[in-house]
Amino acid sequence: MKRAIYPGSFDPVTFGHLDIIKRSAEMFDEIIVGVLNNSQKNSLFNADVRVTILKDLLTDFDNVKVEAFDGLLVDFAKKKDANIIVRGLRAVTDFEYELQIAQTNKVQMPTLDTVFLVTDLNYSYLSSSIVKEFASYGGDISKFVPASIIPLIEAAYKEKEN
Ligand code: PNS
Repeated sequence: MKRAIYPGSFDPVTFGHLDIIKRSAEMFDEIIVGVLNNSQKNSLFNADVRVTILKDLLTDFDNVKVEAFDGLLVDFAKKKDANIIVRGLRAVTDFEYELQIAQTNKVQMPTLDTVFLVTDLNYSYLSSSIVKEFASYGGDISKFVPASIIPLIEAAYKEKEN
């Protein structure tokens, strides 16, 4: 059984993340989307909301699970008995950071391999930060995230204003 973890903040999930999840679900027997429960105060959504959003968007994928995790990714991988981490690579700028994390995780857990999927050309510019920047100014984010979550993002910014 090839079980892989696709970890991230997903604050919010973008079309780029969903594309990586769909492609990796075809490559591995099971994908666990690991939502980092970072207690950063500047998160748009708390981890429970991010998990719910992802679950709602991924109901059609029988081999994809979504779970929040705290602490180190290697500990989550051990707990879930997973030996593969999936990460998307958009550009060379991602590479240095991703390589360092992958190698550190490998030193900590030698059975853990990180697999990089090259982001679809249509989403290579896209990041959660870009979505938040646009949304914070009331910009059009319909090309970045699924229509179903746009009202949630807009509501989160309205709440921040009050
Ligand atoms: O979507 P992101 O924010 O790029 O995802 C980063 C993530 C969650 C993969 C990374 O920050 C992570 O694995 N955090 C958990 C703590 C950890 O294990 N850090 C790596 C130590 S070098």
